[in-house]
Amino acid sequence: MKATLVIENIKNLLTIRGKNRPRKGTQQGEAGLIENGIVAVNDDKIIYIGKGALPDGIEIDETTIVVNAEGKTVTPGLIDPHTHLVHGGSREHELPMKLAGKGYLEILAGGGGIHSTARATEKASFEDLYKKAEKSLNTMMSYGVTTVEAKSGYGIGSFETELKQIEVANKLNRDHPLDIISTFMGAHAVPEEYKGNSDLFVDKLIKEQIPYIAEKNLAKFCDVFCEEGVFSVDQSRRILNAAKINGLIPKVHADEIVSLGGAELAAEIGCISAEHLIGASNQGIEDMAEKGTIAVLLPGTSFNLQKGTLARARKMIEKNVAVAISTDYNPGSCPSENLQLMMTLASLTLKMQPEEVIVGVTINAAAALGIEDKVGSLEVGKKADIAIFDAPNLDYMIYHFGINHTDTVIKNGKIVYTRQGR
Ligand code: NIG
Ligand code: FE
Repeated sequence: MKATLVIENIKNLLTIRGKNRPRKGTQQGEAGLIENGIVAVNDDKIIYIGKGALPDGIEIDETTIVVNAEGKTVTPGLIDPHTHLVHGGSREHELPMKLAGKGYLEILAGGGGIHSTARATEKASFEDLYKKAEKSLNTMMSYGVTTVEAKSGYGIGSFETELKQIEVANKLNRDHPLDIISTFMGAHAVPEEYKGNSDLFVDKLIKEQIPYIAEKNLAKFCDVFCEEGVFSVDQSRRILNAAKINGLIPKVHADEIVSLGGAELAAEIGCISAEHLIGASNQGIEDMAEKGTIAVLLPGTSFNLQKGTLARARKMIEKNVAVAISTDYNPGSCPSENLQLMMTLASLTLKMQPEEVIVGVTINAAAALGIEDKVGSLEVGKKADIAIFDAPNLDYMIYHFGINHTDTVIKNGKIVYTRQGR
């Protein structure tokens, strides 16, 4: 078979090979390293992966693109499974308030935070939102990311704005080289006019909005901010059950700031993943392990919230919960698109070993999006989504932090990013 693209002389090739399933326990620490590796691609698929030279039967000709990865590290394209990609405005004005001791939920309760982004998002035109999100996607791609999840949730009280956000994400999925997977997060904050009457808003979500999103096939997932003063566990249960009935896959922002029992709820509902989990209880972790709920941890958010509390990644891995890592890119709790930085934070703050981290941003992140059969590891037949890092090994990539190690990004078998001056 003819190779359209070959990456050769790879010092450290991290294949993440194994079953197309979330990796738990000790498997979370297995990165499938091949030293002096080689990968061959035909069109958008991997056709060979191994050591040394290409075997007979894989042909190259003058049209084959050959990339020399001498001294470099190659991984599956990174996957960012939790972002609030599409939004208007920014919230740097919250920084001095935060430094003066104002809490995230306090700012939100005062009509700021998510509400202020909702106002900016409502005001922004489709084109404004598209351009801003496109810029963020390009930044993500430059960090080695090839697939991104994008939540709505800034159309608080305006379903039209929710639809605008989702349509921007879906159009970017069609236009941009990266894959963008949409999540409906109509339950992100309680609209002003429903304050004190939030059950009525939940009714609206269940009876009108969720069925509309599902019927028009606008999103794959449905998420809820289950948090004190936002949506209660009972309300979240109603919303997520409605999502399931309508064919949307449930996810939940669980135990991010206050320990409410979000992890338990995620397991009870059969959510594909529970996100944040900073305050997840022992029972919640046990329940998630039993039900196979994936933990999507967001160490950039805990760093930025500066509350001194962290998700218990070690406990989760020990209990056989598959852990994924993500940016949570959003204008409030984590204004950063840099997944490489999150890898370092996962390692240093959550005490995850480098192999556990790379599994967390590849196959486990893919599993949190239900696409582990197509991406997230480098194996024959899988999509040729590949990142090449200018780092001699994985440990170096994580230890030498705060800079961008990306050399080349390949999406669907095509080079979509090359570091300038390479
Ligand atoms: O994951 N907590 C809810 N949603 C986001 C923050 C959104 C915002 O502050 O704009 C999060 O932390
Ligand atoms: Fe989030």
